[in-house]
Amino acid sequence: MKNLNLLNFSSAQEDDRTLILKGLINKNQKTINSKFFYDDVGSELFEKITKLKEYYPTKAEINILEKKFYTKQFLSESSSIIEFGSGSNKKIKKLINGGKNLKEYIPIDISKDFLYKNAKNFAKIFPKTKVTAICAAFNQITEIKGILDKKNNKIGFFPGSTIGNFIPSEAENLLKSFSLILGSGSYMIIGVDLIKSKKVLENAYNDSKGITARFNSNILRSVNSIVGGKLDKKNFKHHAFFNDKEKRIEMHLISKVKHSVNILNQIINFKKGESIHTENSYKYTLEGFSKLSKNSGFRISQILKDEKNLFSIFVLKVK
Ligand code: AVJ
Repeated sequence: MKNLNLLNFSSAQEDDRTLILKGLINKNQKTINSKFFYDDVGSELFEKITKLKEYYPTKAEINILEKKFYTKQFLSESSSIIEFGSGSNKKIKKLINGGKNLKEYIPIDISKDFLYKNAKNFAKIFPKTKVTAICAAFNQITEIKGILDKKNNKIGFFPGSTIGNFIPSEAENLLKSFSLILGSGSYMIIGVDLIKSKKVLENAYNDSKGITARFNSNILRSVNSIVGGKLDKKNFKHHAFFNDKEKRIEMHLISKVKHSVNILNQIINFKKGESIHTENSYKYTLEGFSKLSKNSGFRISQILKDEKNLFSIFVLKVK
């Protein structure tokens, strides 16, 4: 396909191994970075999550994107949209809403085969749009910046409340990097999940079909394939709860039995009941996220909510 360009900056296996080992030898709290959820199986499982009745964020965000409100204001035929963590491309299609003449679409995602498959599909449906797919973690700022410096009329798109995976200070740094990449006067559209009743929040991460539990334990498979380890999902159970103090959903895998696993020649011991912390998903108030945006070099252009006030989209402009 003439309008398709595939680039690969996926991080060195060596760096991933170090990151995994460092998280698992931590004495206070074992952790696995949530980027490791997204191998091919994990990306497909996440797609399934977005369709669950309990998982409101995707439906609520699409409800906002389907309103035509802002599109005309900043989306033009000369725009290049950069999507951070593009997944299945479902949301960009809503955002451009039949705007087949978008100049360029630049999806960035960590899951290579999933990214390439979806980018090809997008390039086929929108033959006039140049598609440049970048396989990278979206905090690989230097690599991404190198590609984007040459583009004009950049719009950043960061849906899904993926920003919630970062602790607020990291989230601020990430937004600062996005503002630098995009340049003064550019728009950035960010999906942000809102604080709401504990019951609604916790149900979204404890679905009755057990898909979220499968998504959570799949991280062990994904990690095993990187470190050649034998973490066994049968030894762990899914646990997700809302941490009121930190305003975040936490996902953990709790060891059901005392056991040990050899990873890269280090013995990792699990006590019965000990957990691996696999994800944070921060929830914000409109005021809270407004403050974070302003601290990161943005002005607030618009704040939109879905009909049920579950989710928000911040339209920001780089100062
Ligand atoms: C893709 C990070 C936005 O935090 O809700 C879904 C991932 N984890 N169910 C989220 C997720 C468990 C999701 N994000």
